[in-house]
Amino acid sequence: MEDRKGDHIRHALHSQIFQDELDTRFDYEPMLGSEADSEWEPFQFLGRQLKVPMWVSSMTGGAPEAHHINHNLAKACKKFGMGMGLGSCRILLDNKRHLSDFDVREIIGDDLPLWANIGIAQLEKMMKKGEYDPLIEVVNILKADGLIIHVNPSQESLQEEGDFLHYRPLDTVKDFLSKTEIKIIVKEVGQGMGPRSLKELIKLPIEAIETASFGGTNFARLELIRRASENVSHLEPIAHIGHTAEEMVDIINELVENEKDIKCKQLIISGGIRTHLDGYYLISKSKLPAIYGQASGFLRHARESYESLEKYIEEQILGLRFSKAWLHPKFKK
Ligand SMILES: Cc1cc2nc3c(=O)[nH]c(=O)nc-3n(C[C@H](O)[C@H](O)[C@H](O)COP(=O)(O)O)c2cc1C
Repeated sequence: MEDRKGDHIRHALHSQIFQDELDTRFDYEPMLGSEADSEWEPFQFLGRQLKVPMWVSSMTGGAPEAHHINHNLAKACKKFGMGMGLGSCRILLDNKRHLSDFDVREIIGDDLPLWANIGIAQLEKMMKKGEYDPLIEVVNILKADGLIIHVNPSQESLQEEGDFLHYRPLDTVKDFLSKTEIKIIVKEVGQGMGPRSLKELIKLPIEAIETASFGGTNFARLELIRRASENVSHLEPIAHIGHTAEEMVDIINELVENEKDIKCKQLIISGGIRTHLDGYYLISKSKLPAIYGQASGFLRHARESYESLEKYIEEQILGLRFSKAWLHPKFKK
């Protein structure tokens, strides 16, 4: 007790916070919550049961560190009851040398969502040739629940070895849906999507849209960094276009209210979600059942060690529990 009181005096003068640092997204209601209100009940999402509204956004496979990262992520998903999107599985289409990087179903278990991933350019090529069996085989080998298709024209345009898209991604996705039984999620990779794309996408019979919005990891910028020696900085403005997660949630809410033929009924809100408060605010705001996803947030810790990842997620969950008990989001557009 004496130690604590001493700490208070010692640290008080370094604990000042200013009015312009206030997070104005919430009403804080200290009179009205209790520990009992902070529990997250298990809930159905993507046909499985999650314990917390959190998602590991697609990252890696095939890189030297990928095995360690993916296995740490899967282990954490199992422990905390989260879902996981795998990084692009393109490398497995050629050979299965890197299979163990992606092969985490046994770790994550049978009860949680695990999804494979492929880029739209690769899918377009396969659909054009009518040779998409190897992709279905990959989904099956990984015992994945379905396939996440990432649609990333800005990244492809800036990548030296990038692919041109010859067809509209919307048509490629429709073609795939009409020819296979595989369940689909569609996402960007960090620049999000605008209202016209979302309006078309939400009418497709897909399991979810993952926003992969602007404001976090930015693959346009990443590709420019990779090409730094070529001095291609005049292309930098492309890294600044896109849509934030909140903007996308607002667009989707408006679609849900005004469109009749909506078939996509779930949302993963990701891209620039830096804190549990960002996640809590946006999943509360969404009119579709939603969870929030992070890529770089988890990557930092999964790379370091499982213990670091576990600690990070424990803190996320503590923050979510606090939010649920004491915060009331104030929604503005
Ligand atoms: C290292 C890394 C690799 C990624 N690889 C993929 C990928 O293979 N497929 C994909 O759909 N998205 C990929 N992404 C994009 C993420 O899934 C996510 O959409 C994006 O990073 C925004 O999330 P963040 O701001 O939380 O990092 C990758 C992200 C990172 C950080």
